[in-house]
Amino acid sequence: MTELNTQNIGREEVEHASQDELQGLQLERMKWSLKHAYENVPHYKKAFDDAGVHPDDLKQLSDISRFPFTTKKDLRDNYPFKMFAVPREQVVRIHASSGTTGKPTVVGYTAHDIANWADLVARSIWAAGGRPGDIAHVAYGYGLFTGGLGAHYGAERLGCSVVPMSGGQTEKQVQLIQDFQPSIIMVTPSYFCNILEEMEREGLDPRDSSLRIGIFGAEPWTGQMRAEIEHRAGIDALDIYGLSEVMGPGVAMECAESKDGPVIWEDHFYPEIINPDTGEPVAEGEPGELVLTSLTNEAMPVVRYRTRDLTRLLPPTSRSMRRMGKITGRSDDMLIVRGVNMFPTQVEEVVLRIPELAAQYQLVLTRSGNLDELEILTEVRPDFDHLSVAERDLLAAKLKHAVKTYIGVTARVTVQTSGLVERTLTGKARRVVDKRPK
Ligand code: DLL
Repeated sequence: MTELNTQNIGREEVEHASQDELQGLQLERMKWSLKHAYENVPHYKKAFDDAGVHPDDLKQLSDISRFPFTTKKDLRDNYPFKMFAVPREQVVRIHASSGTTGKPTVVGYTAHDIANWADLVARSIWAAGGRPGDIAHVAYGYGLFTGGLGAHYGAERLGCSVVPMSGGQTEKQVQLIQDFQPSIIMVTPSYFCNILEEMEREGLDPRDSSLRIGIFGAEPWTGQMRAEIEHRAGIDALDIYGLSEVMGPGVAMECAESKDGPVIWEDHFYPEIINPDTGEPVAEGEPGELVLTSLTNEAMPVVRYRTRDLTRLLPPTSRSMRRMGKITGRSDDMLIVRGVNMFPTQVEEVVLRIPELAAQYQLVLTRSGNLDELEILTEVRPDFDHLSVAERDLLAAKLKHAVKTYIGVTARVTVQTSGLVERTLTGKARRVVDKRPK
């Protein structure tokens, strides 16, 4: 079941295995992974010993809840290579996630891990509707970030012609899309919006482009954003999920035929959802923090890694494996504004319901006295630039009212002319600017 043949992706046995077969495979691999981590990584030996558990205690999948969590701090404390479970010489690739504070977290891959990752991304592109022979334009950043190289190896593995464009140089992105006629684009949804804007600025209709499929991830995006992108670009917009600490893109991927949330590739990653405050498992289908255990990683196995991503587990549909709901945000992205908890994605939903507003927004947090203040910066779509200041103020009042009604937060809203909300030139959008004193 483990060997992947490109011809079989999407039809592969494991993607359609019975629950018994799948769980049998997971249990066998989980036993291997726990033992591998315990015997080769001092951190896991100590953490398991301190918790009074041993890999042999895992008799069934649910026993995983007896094992200790792994956090980003554990990875930082073992910087750079102390989480590796194989001799450094067997590590053929190193990635790192930037991390806004302190040291980056480092991830290592053996040759087998890299092949496995390529297989999973190939499987993901297939699930999105991509096929061997398609041209795939990769606009995720190449480098220490896992997006570019992860997408690249997977697209090659599937048999696509890959254009390793990386992020930035938006005009050149548009030119290459025009000239090379790719059917697939792999990019963050926010940067894709910048590409669409550039096409429109050049007088091109994005619906006439060769693109058919967008494989979007690396940041939260809402159902409203999907509708907006699909309408503007005339493509299928599918959600890909992953994180460097566990592998990179391709931990989970949404299937084109159902578009109902990313399928977690459970033959390689075991998911749990926990209450982020208590660490206890939540009832099936309830929202909480996603926790992942790698089942096949050689260089850097992770046991119960706390992703901080908030979502829920959903039953299988297009594949035998469970799906995850759209990520509402990371627990550390949650804003508390005057006592109300909210996520930037909630603002996205409300902004995109107002037809005159563009899919660009940024939240600015300041403090006045003891009170937090939220300002929402938005802009009109280019075809509404003729609106007068009074008309823009009316739109602002409308958004302010919707934010109060749907999110429960009082915010100051600014509606600017098009192009004024900060664009990130590459990668992940900066949705929140926190100017509150630390
Ligand atoms: O963002 C890996 C990736 C690259 C995924 C390209 C998909 C496409 P990191 O930089 O380590 O890795 O960031 C991982 O990004 O914990 C989530 O908070 C967020 N994230 C990733 N995919 C999604 C998604 C890559 N589809 C962090 N929806 C994760 C929402 C996502 N958030």
